[in-house]
Amino acid sequence: MLGVCYYPEHWPESWWEKDARRMRALGISYVRIGEFAWSRLEPARGMFDFSWLDRAMDTLTKAGLKIVLGTPTATPPKWLMDEYPEIAPVDEQGKVRGFGSRRHYTFSSDVWWKESERIVEAVAKRYGEHPGLAGWQTDNEYGCHDTSLSWGVEDLKAFRRWLRLRYQSTQQLNEAWGSVFWSMEVQSFDDVVLPNLTVTEPNPAVRLDFWRFHSDQIAAYDRMQCDIIRQHSPGRWITHNFMGFVNDFDHWKVGENLDLASWDSYPIGFVEKFPFSEEERVRWAETSHPDIAAFHHDLYRGVGNGRFWIMEQQPGPVNWAPWNPVPKPGMVRLWAWEGLAHGAEVVSYFRWRQAPFAQEQMHAGLNLPGLDELSPGGLEAETVGREIAAIGALPEASQAPVAIVYDYESYWSAVIQPQGKDFRYEELAFRWYEAVRKLGLDVDFVRPGASLKGYRLVLVPCLMHVSDLALAAFEQADGVVLFGPRTGSRDRNFKIPTNLPPGPVRDLAGIRITQVASLRPGLGISLSGAIDGQATRWREYIETAADAKVETTFEDGLPALVSKGRYRYLACWIEGAALQDLMQYLANGLDLQTVALPDFIRYRSAGELTFAFNYGPDAWSIPETQEFVMGGQQVPPFSLSAWRKASV
Ligand code: GLA
Repeated sequence: MLGVCYYPEHWPESWWEKDARRMRALGISYVRIGEFAWSRLEPARGMFDFSWLDRAMDTLTKAGLKIVLGTPTATPPKWLMDEYPEIAPVDEQGKVRGFGSRRHYTFSSDVWWKESERIVEAVAKRYGEHPGLAGWQTDNEYGCHDTSLSWGVEDLKAFRRWLRLRYQSTQQLNEAWGSVFWSMEVQSFDDVVLPNLTVTEPNPAVRLDFWRFHSDQIAAYDRMQCDIIRQHSPGRWITHNFMGFVNDFDHWKVGENLDLASWDSYPIGFVEKFPFSEEERVRWAETSHPDIAAFHHDLYRGVGNGRFWIMEQQPGPVNWAPWNPVPKPGMVRLWAWEGLAHGAEVVSYFRWRQAPFAQEQMHAGLNLPGLDELSPGGLEAETVGREIAAIGALPEASQAPVAIVYDYESYWSAVIQPQGKDFRYEELAFRWYEAVRKLGLDVDFVRPGASLKGYRLVLVPCLMHVSDLALAAFEQADGVVLFGPRTGSRDRNFKIPTNLPPGPVRDLAGIRITQVASLRPGLGISLSGAIDGQATRWREYIETAADAKVETTFEDGLPALVSKGRYRYLACWIEGAALQDLMQYLANGLDLQTVALPDFIRYRSAGELTFAFNYGPDAWSIPETQEFVMGGQQVPPFSLSAWRKASV
């Protein structure tokens, strides 16, 4: 259940055997290698040198390690960039993003696809049936460093191609985009320009299509790699390592290509990435916020259709956030167990040894820079290895009582048209997740349109465009479904639906929206009824159908929370205590068993086991006596306990 990321090309060959032996001694079974090694595999066009990787793979295999091999496409070598400068991506301001770090390619370049096919095929042919090979990782972190979208000549060509296929005629394109507005009509697909460098905002429908186009390209590019690998590597699984808080492409679509999902978990680094308040950032600086890792575990378990790994786990301070504190002692262990409790098949640390050179020299590893000596994080990984050996495999994750419908297009739509500066999709979804998790409830993430059967509570924080498929899933849901603000507020072409929002779910929800208001910080509206508190950021004016029931009103008496049958519609943004009240209210109505957890404790169940994770500086006492398998009644700070559920 443990793995590690290793770069044999960074160390003298004479170290490999000892490194492999020490990995095994730590309880590590999997080693991921190769994902940035193109310049060593093919130092010049066609001059392949596999000999070092042959020896590395043999050495690791002999030591009893199983290998995850990365395709090296995240780092096209210099000779290739010189040969084909058009591979380089272009930023939104029109500047080329050149060689010298990584991910310097655009998914739109035809020659890049050919070169990728060539290197992936060479590697897959060479190692596809290597006895030590367990599986593959395609590329590395699509979208990292803001590389999902590119704005160059190659992108324009590919975008026009994509539009031709989608719309067939410029008449249909003009109609879909509403191009008559401001005389934006085009007479030929060659008239289409990229939605950047305009005087004022470009047409949101064009921006959404441009985003979809890039997202489709990423999924297709990944599919190309998977097809080649499958041809040469029968019986091996394929994954991709997704990231935290990256929503620039549709992960559900890439997930379709894969046998399992994986993601790179840097819980502390992400505290600075998410729009937390300054106070929260300070509070969670050295532990991470207790929902950051869990949110992504649950999301990627969904993306991987029930199967996921943590491909990279933070082992100590990282180098890339604005500030990079050392994790509190215990957290490296806690994060691993938390991942396992959420269903991770393997927790793989990044990286084996801190590199004393180049960009990531300030990034911790399991070993001190350049040495054979465990770092503080390495010592904690060693503890995890021992604990796993004692406890054995955890049961598979079972269906959670709560589902969150998570949608990438809604994220893009809210970025493209926030309407209120702080209407942020990812924040909304995260806060709803946090509120249910504080009640001790487990959560699954579900793709719009996928079955919602069996979920007692379905949360739809915001689904801007409700497709026919998504509507059908809502209709067939057998639990309570809560729709959040802006759900159904756009059709697939980014137009306001002809029957007004919430469009397709208007009948289910029993409401119609006539106006929306965004609220600047400090401008709140009081709520009363089933939930009390304040609406902030966003408020909708709704009319209710005769059979809908108003559960909560705004201070002007208009409806804020409405129910009709199993459906609920929340016509505003709420946070903090009000959001917590709402989730408690819904859970009470469903007789869901909840625990009021302090905000630094989270539960997660794995089969007959329940885990409690303590992200706080004080010990916490579990309310009832339990049969413990790890820890005890008192959960020490930055630690965990696990117990067997009492059979009733
Ligand atoms: C990412 C990458 C790794 C490494 C780590 C550092 O997750 O995949 O190559 O750069 O970040 O935290």
